[in-house]
Amino acid sequence: MTEQTYTTIKVSSAKRVGRIQLNRPAALNALNAETMEEVVAATVAFDADPQIGAILLSGSQKAFAAGADIKEMSEQSFADMYAADWFRRWEDLARVRTPIVAAVSGYALGGGCELAMMADIIIAGTGAKFGQPEINLGVIPGMGGSQRLTRSVGKAKAMDMVLTGRHIDAEEAERIGLVSRVVPDGELDAEAKTVAELIASKSKPAAQMAKEAVAAAFEMPLASGLQFERRIFHSLFSTEDQSEGMDAFANKRKPTWQHR
Ligand code: HXC
Repeated sequence: MTEQTYTTIKVSSAKRVGRIQLNRPAALNALNAETMEEVVAATVAFDADPQIGAILLSGSQKAFAAGADIKEMSEQSFADMYAADWFRRWEDLARVRTPIVAAVSGYALGGGCELAMMADIIIAGTGAKFGQPEINLGVIPGMGGSQRLTRSVGKAKAMDMVLTGRHIDAEEAERIGLVSRVVPDGELDAEAKTVAELIASKSKPAAQMAKEAVAAAFEMPLASGLQFERRIFHSLFSTEDQSEGMDAFANKRKPTWQHR
């Protein structure tokens, strides 16, 4: 899929950062099937591009995304959802190896909160609101909310959010460990860009393997995770960037990464 074919997102790249901006303002960036397909396709395309070292995902000032598209979903039956394996496509985004930074301004609700949680780092503006309000629609989170949220913030806060559907503000989201940083709304874009560019300026294999190792902590028992980390650490000694990074340190110069 090329840049011109996207209709619900804006895509650009600069300084090794691939940028995807949700762009359905009339629906507060609600995630319909087309948006899901476009966001996943653009993310997967950036992941395959050797010139891209980080991906920045954002929405508008009012909404990162107000959830899955309720109007589209409301007509579906169990048979429709089951046959299409509704939402499975998001797993392709979750498998992307390039680090993803989400810049959240405004509402990140339901599928919007779940999409942000598929990113590796969430940076929120002070006015951001997070929530899993599916209970108010007679359903439950379906894009990972019950699982990723619980792993991020623990049972007490996950149950609170999923069972009451209440919105939490950016300050609470940072306090409970859902987001990495909170910055004034007017500084969100610049801060998120700076973070993404910083990550993109590192050795790509090291950054990818660092992401893989941290992500493994959510999948593996501790002993297996520690062994996985050690083996990845060992394997990085086969890269040109390991030799370069350590030589640069010893010779008091900046490293020039080959990303291999
Ligand atoms: C479709 C949506 C939408 C959504 C907003 N809109 N959220 N359309 N799906 N998730 C549309 C509205 O219908 C409206 O369209 C326009 O966007 C502006 O929204 P308003 O409600 O008028 O704005 P406001 O009063 O400022 O309220 C903002 C809001 C509210 C608090 C975010 O829109 C809201 O509560 N939205 C739903 C949030 C939610 O329940 N998300 C979870 C979805 S379920 P019109 O045409 O009227 O102007 C989900 C499930 C995940 O994500 C997987 C498991 C099933």
